[in-house]
Amino acid sequence: MEQSDLKTFLKAQQGELDAVLMYNALADAVKDRNDAETFRRLAAEEGHHASVFKQLSGQTLTPKKTLATVVPLFYKIIGKKRLYPIIAKFEYDAVNTYAPVAQRFSEVESVKNDEKRHGDTVMALLNK
Ligand SMILES: [Fe+2]
Repeated sequence: MEQSDLKTFLKAQQGELDAVLMYNALADAVKDRNDAETFRRLAAEEGHHASVFKQLSGQTLTPKKTLATVVPLFYKIIGKKRLYPIIAKFEYDAVNTYAPVAQRFSEVESVKNDEKRHGDTVMALLNK
């Protein structure tokens, strides 16, 4: 494995771990019960993604709470109509980040596809 791949995996692993805390914290904060259930499901999937990248990196990382603190605050301040597109953009950005490694590491391919679906899922919460 190239050094640049390891760097990508570690960054991805950290991002996925942080996303688990973020989605669970958001699930606690949102008013809509369907939104909360959706975010708990996304949190579980991000946890699976973290384990995929842990396998690839061979390292154990600690989740950071920053996003889990800030994102629920943003929910209260700017509301879901403005927050959810920002979250969806993070998911779509991950698709682009993972695409080059997904070509060489097949286990990243389904992770990449999940992030696209996550973006779509979060955007769909605005159309109910
Ligand atoms: Fe993910």
